[in-house]
This record gives sequence, structure tokens and C-alpha cells, in this order.
Amino acid sequence: MTARYIPYALPLIGDSEVQAVTDVLRSDWLTTGAKTKQFEADFARFVNAPHAMALNSCTAALHLALLAAGIGPGDEVITTPLTFCATVNTILHVGAKPVLADIDPLTLCLSPASVEAKLTPRTKAIVPVHYAGHPAEMDSFLALARQHGLVLIEDAAHAVGTSYRGRPVGSIGDYTAFSFYATKNLTTAEGGMLTTASAESADRIRVLGLHGISRDAWKRYTAAGTWFYEVQEAGFKYNMTDLAAALGLAQLGRFEDMQDVRRQYAERYNQAFAAEPAIQLPPAADLAAGDVHAWHLYVIRLNPEAVTLDRDSLIEELKAAGVGTSVHFIPITHHPFYQQALGVTPDDTPVSSANYARMLSLPLYPKMTPQDVEEVISRTLAILERHRR
Ligand SMILES: Cc1ncc(COP(=O)(O)O)c(C=O)c1O
Repeated sequence: MTARYIPYALPLIGDSEVQAVTDVLRSDWLTTGAKTKQFEADFARFVNAPHAMALNSCTAALHLALLAAGIGPGDEVITTPLTFCATVNTILHVGAKPVLADIDPLTLCLSPASVEAKLTPRTKAIVPVHYAGHPAEMDSFLALARQHGLVLIEDAAHAVGTSYRGRPVGSIGDYTAFSFYATKNLTTAEGGMLTTASAESADRIRVLGLHGISRDAWKRYTAAGTWFYEVQEAGFKYNMTDLAAALGLAQLGRFEDMQDVRRQYAERYNQAFAAEPAIQLPPAADLAAGDVHAWHLYVIRLNPEAVTLDRDSLIEELKAAGVGTSVHFIPITHHPFYQQALGVTPDDTPVSSANYARMLSLPLYPKMTPQDVEEVISRTLAILERHRR
């Protein structure tokens, strides 16, 4: 008998989400409107940010943050190699040069010391990623930004619900970009949010995110709106729909409950794998008072000296045993495109490369049942036991 397949990720969509989206479908207003504005207001309150702009992806949010920060040709932006390609692509989209520092070997987040080593007179911004939902070392990045006059743009694609020293992510750096992609802790199917404390930047981002046309362009089809508009600059089509926002509002309404389940499951994994020498647990011991890990991902690292199989074989064996996994991420320095475009090699980011070879992400989401979690644990441990040195 083949084991029941446990996918790597599933969204948690219940009656409240179905109802919220259905209400919008019956309301005659499908795209950016009252629901989107409500979602922006509620999300801003949730992360304690003065301004929040709902967009159609985190990629759009990163792109607009860089533009609003005035980053362009001739500028360098330092970021982490252990990230999704969107972090780096958006830097290229604005004509700037992505500079890849390296990660901290414990947290897998961008290392402040490696950022410092990459600073040049052309450096204009730092883009840390709160990897897996673990808070990045924001005090160090804030100090570096202050000292060198740099813009701090946080890639918070994994960090809805993350806090650093008592401050929610979204209220710390100059700009924070969130993702509501289908696998994220809070989903709108596709979607993103950009937060900032700058009213001026928020205004520009709203214009840039909707074709570059004058303020409140989305209102032009309402009774309060007007047909007239002016294009201020060549903007983008990055607005969120009310359908997506309604989904987001429903998810936000039960976010803490969903996070409680994630936390419980992460703790159960930690407890079950603590005595397994082949597994390095995700970091948590370094978390300080006031830090909250959002547990977007549960990333384990294989200790090669304990077993005879490597990471790729473990993934294959888990798949055969009915456990879906993923790898976050193939470092930027390993992709042929960036090797060509940026002249980088895996050896330029040795800590990322070494950890990449050992890492995989196990299923962790509130739609899993406690039984699913136990199945992932027992199937994983059984494979490791079979390959013990
Ligand atoms: C670290 C990181 N940054 C950016 C993104 C892009 O997010 P989106 O798909 O919402 O554009 C992702 C998506 O997975 C991500 O993991």
C-alpha cells in the first residue's frame, strides 16, 4: 500500500474566505475598491505601519520600493544570495546592480558583516530577507543604513507575523514588501503589500502602481469619481483586486489562529528531530526577547557525516514515501543567468552554497493535521535510520 501523499504546501481556505470572495462577486465591484482600501488599513494597523499599499505581488512591491527610493542606473543594492529570484530581478529592473553578500550560517538570513564588506561609494540600499520567517538582524542593518546613508528595503515575503525586538516587520525599515502568494502564511492567491512611514513615498507608490495616473485613479468609475485623469509618469499595472483583498481580509481575521498551529507544528518537529544527529534544526535559540518567528518555512539541514544519503536523495526518498518538500533557495550565484549577468559564481557566496547543499523545507502549514505532522516525522526518521553511517 502506498502512503498517503502529504503535499509540501496547501492554503487554508474555509467558509469565511469563500463567503468574503462570493460577497465581492455579487457586489458588482471586482477590482481595486473598498475591500482593497479596507485591507490596506487593517494590514497597516496589524504591522503598525503608517502607510500600506496593496499590490498584485511582493515582486511589484519590491520594484516600487526601489523606484520610490530613487534607486537606478549606477547604484548598487546589496542583498542575499539565498532568496527567490524576484529580490534580485527587481534590482535589475530599475537598472541598478545587485551585489550579493552572504548569509549568516546559523539563521540563513543576510549577514550584516558580509554586507559591510561589500559597501562601496555606489551602494544605495540594503535588501535583507527575513528568511523562513526568522527576523533578520535589523539593528545592525539600521545602523549600517544610518551610518552610510542607505535605504533599507525589507523583503518580508516570508514575514507576515514576524517581529524583531518587539517591533512588527513592516514598521522597521524604510520600505517593507510582503507576499500573499498561495503558499504564504496569509494568502490572496497572488498579492503583496508595501509599507512605509513616508507619506510622500506612499503617494508616489500609489501613482506608480496604477499606470502612473493621478491620485485615486481607481475611483474614476465610482459615483464619487471623475472621468478625467492625467498621466504623471510611466507607471505599472500593479494594483490589487477587491477579490484578492476580500480573501486577504478573511485570512487576516484568523491569522493568529493559523500562526498558533504553525508554531505548534514547528515545536513538534523540533522536539521530534532534536535527538536525530542527521538533522540540524532550524535556528530558534538565537531569538531574543520580543522576536517572533513567523514559521513560514521549516528548513532542516542534513548533517552529511551522520548518514550515507545526500540532500537530493533524501528529497527523492521522501517523495517516494509520500512527503512533498521544497528547497529554499537555489542561491542566486548558482543560476547561469546571474552568473552571466553579474559575473558571479557559487564560490563567491560560500556560506550560501554550503548550506544550500544540505537544506530542504518540510511541509508546515495549518491545513496539515497533527497526524500529517506525525507522518512526516516518522517517514523522515525511517529514511534516515536506513541510511545511518
Ligand atoms: C524571499 C522572496 N521574495 C520575493 C518573493 C516574491 O513574491 P511574489 O510571488 O508575491 O511576487 C518570494 C516568493 O516566493 C520570496 O520567497
